[in-house]
Amino acid sequence: MNYRHAFHAGNFADCMKHAVLVWLLRALMRKPGPLFVLDTHAGIGRYDLRSSPAARTGEWRQGIARLLDDPPPALGDYVDLVRALGLYPGSPVLVRALMRPDDRLACCELHPDDAAALRRHFARDGQVAVHHRDAWEALGALLPPRQRRGLVLIDPPFEDAQEFAALTAGLAVGHRRFATGVFAAWYPIKHGAPSRKFRSDVLETGIRDVVAVELCLRAPVDATRLNGCGMLVVNPPYRFEADVPPILTALLDRLGDREPGEGVTMKRIVDE
Ligand SMILES: C[S@@+](CC[C@H](N)C(=O)[O-])C[C@H]1O[C@@H](n2cnc3c(N)ncnc32)[C@H](O)[C@@H]1O
Repeated sequence: MNYRHAFHAGNFADCMKHAVLVWLLRALMRKPGPLFVLDTHAGIGRYDLRSSPAARTGEWRQGIARLLDDPPPALGDYVDLVRALGLYPGSPVLVRALMRPDDRLACCELHPDDAAALRRHFARDGQVAVHHRDAWEALGALLPPRQRRGLVLIDPPFEDAQEFAALTAGLAVGHRRFATGVFAAWYPIKHGAPSRKFRSDVLETGIRDVVAVELCLRAPVDATRLNGCGMLVVNPPYRFEADVPPILTALLDRLGDREPGEGVTMKRIVDE
């Protein structure tokens, strides 16, 4: 396990993922029933962007820094949360900030140091459980939740080429156990072919009601660069397809450098 999220926290891909995550949580919380959130690849929860290692890569300067300077109205909800939470919040801290008293969060993190850091952060929090365990195994073990309504965020590090296949298999396992859950799976777009294959592999699983929203900073032709990223969502809440593209278009307007091929797309992969 070489991937450490601290090098990448706050970059454009994190902003995309977290802006969609906040929209999903708000949408699910429009209903009063208690919600269970499973964050399968949770990281450490909070990141100090001004010190090493985030400062070493400086990726956040082309990401969250540009939003904090001048937040577009469509991203106000997300940016206000980032401001209010102080150190740059990762997914579990964002989720926790929005949770109501009956909601629960389970986080999995496999790196021992990161799992320990996250456990310290939530040590006195009775609504959050931190598991030092493998995400793919946890999708079988922790679902379905007692609450019956839930969001599963799957955010793998994509350290190797097998991760797309693991993600498809993980979605199939999770969905078999919790067919009514909302699943949000983040994926990188370097070259177009792997993400196209991922979308068609998900189609093959037989899971229904699947959409994917993608943001590209440039045409995905140079496979050595992170040119964009996507979020594939199973059982998207009402208005996802209408509400989320304008949020990502506003994000691209701030974070993009007007390179050829930049854009936001919403694709319906499988009908309801
Ligand atoms: C992209 S980062 C997660 C960032 C986090 N979701 C956020 O938005 O703030 C991926 C994390 O998954 C962890 N990880 C890698 N393989 C894992 C596995 N099989 N099970 C659980 N965690 C894993 C890594 O240590 C890393 O912290």
